[in-house]
Amino acid sequence: MMVLEAKPLARKIEASLKDRINSLDRLGKKPKLVAVSYKPDPSAKAYLESQARVARRLGITYEIVEPGQEDEASYIETIQKINDDPSIDGAIIMTPLPEGVSEERVRIALSPVKDVEGVTPQNLGALFYENEFMPPCTAEATLRLAEYYGIDFTGKNTVVVGRSVVVGKPLAMMLLKKSRSATVTVCHTRTKDLTSFTRNADILIVAAGKPGLIKREHVKEGAVVLDVGINAVDCRIVGDVDLESVKDLVSAISPVPGGVGTITTFVLMEHVVKSAEMVIRS
Ligand SMILES: NC(=O)c1ccc[n+]([C@@H]2O[C@H](COP(=O)([O-])OP(=O)(O)OC[C@H]3O[C@@H](n4cnc5c(N)ncnc54)[C@H](OP(=O)(O)O)[C@@H]3O)[C@@H](O)[C@H]2O)c1
Repeated sequence: MMVLEAKPLARKIEASLKDRINSLDRLGKKPKLVAVSYKPDPSAKAYLESQARVARRLGITYEIVEPGQEDEASYIETIQKINDDPSIDGAIIMTPLPEGVSEERVRIALSPVKDVEGVTPQNLGALFYENEFMPPCTAEATLRLAEYYGIDFTGKNTVVVGRSVVVGKPLAMMLLKKSRSATVTVCHTRTKDLTSFTRNADILIVAAGKPGLIKREHVKEGAVVLDVGINAVDCRIVGDVDLESVKDLVSAISPVPGGVGTITTFVLMEHVVKSAEMVIRS
C-alpha cells in the first residue's frame, strides 16, 4: 500500500512559491492575504494563527479583518473595502457566518480575483467550462496530491462522498474535466446503500466530516482512497476513513493528518500569489 504523504509535494510548492514571491518583491509587490472573521472563537483563532504562520514563513502579509458589527451590511461593507484596496490580493471569509448573514450574498460581494478560496459563483461556474482559474482550495489540493503520485482518473469509476460547495461538488466537476475524464458518482446522506457505490469505486474520495465512516466493507480491493475529512476525536485529528481496517486492502491512501489538509494551505497561498502576479501584470 502506498501512503500518499503530502510533505514532498508541499516542499515543492513551497519552493516554487518562495521564488515567485521573491520575483514579486523585486517588483515592489508584497502579497497580502486577509481573513474576514467576526470575533473569532478560540478554535477559529487557532486555525487563523496556523494559516498566518504559513503565510509569514513564505513572505505573505496576513491580517485578520473584523466587520464592525455582526450583520450582513457590515460584512458586505468590509468586503467592498477589501475589493477597493489594491494592497490586498486575497481574502478568506471564515464560516460559519453569524446568524442572519447570507454566505451566498457575502461571497458574491467579493471580487473573483481576490476570491482565493475559489468559492464565488464566478470561480465555481468557471469549473463548468473546465477553467480552473481559482478552484476551491480543498478540491484542488485533493487532485494535486493524487496527480503528484501519478494517479490517473481516466475512465476510472470515481466515487465522491460529500456534496458541499467547497469540496464534493467542485471535485465532481473537476474530475469530469476532459484531461481527467473520470466517471463520477456523488454520494450524500440521502444515498441509499452507500456501500454499494463505494465498494465499486476504483478511486474513492471521502469528504463527509464523519470519522470512521468508511470501513473495510466500503472499499474495493486495490482501490485508491483519498481521505479529505478532518475531524477532532479525543484530541487527535482523524479522517473519514478507518485506516486500520482498510490498509491491507487499498493500493494507495492519503493520510490524515499529513495528506490533503497539508496541501490545502499551500494551494491557498498559491492563489494569493497568483492574484498578486495579476496585479503586477495589469
Ligand atoms: N483537507 C482539507 O483541507 C479540508 C478542507 C475543508 C474541509 N475538510 C474536511 O472535509 C470534510 C467535509 O467538509 P465539508 O466542508 O465538505 O463538509 P460539509 O459541508 O459538512 O459536507 C459534508 C458532506 O458529506 C455528506 N455526508 C455526511 N455524512 C454522510 C454520510 N454518513 N453518508 C454520506 N454522505 C455524508 C453530506 O451530505 P448532505 O449534503 O446530504 O448533508 C455533505 O454533502 C470535513 O471533515 C472537513 O473538516 C478538509
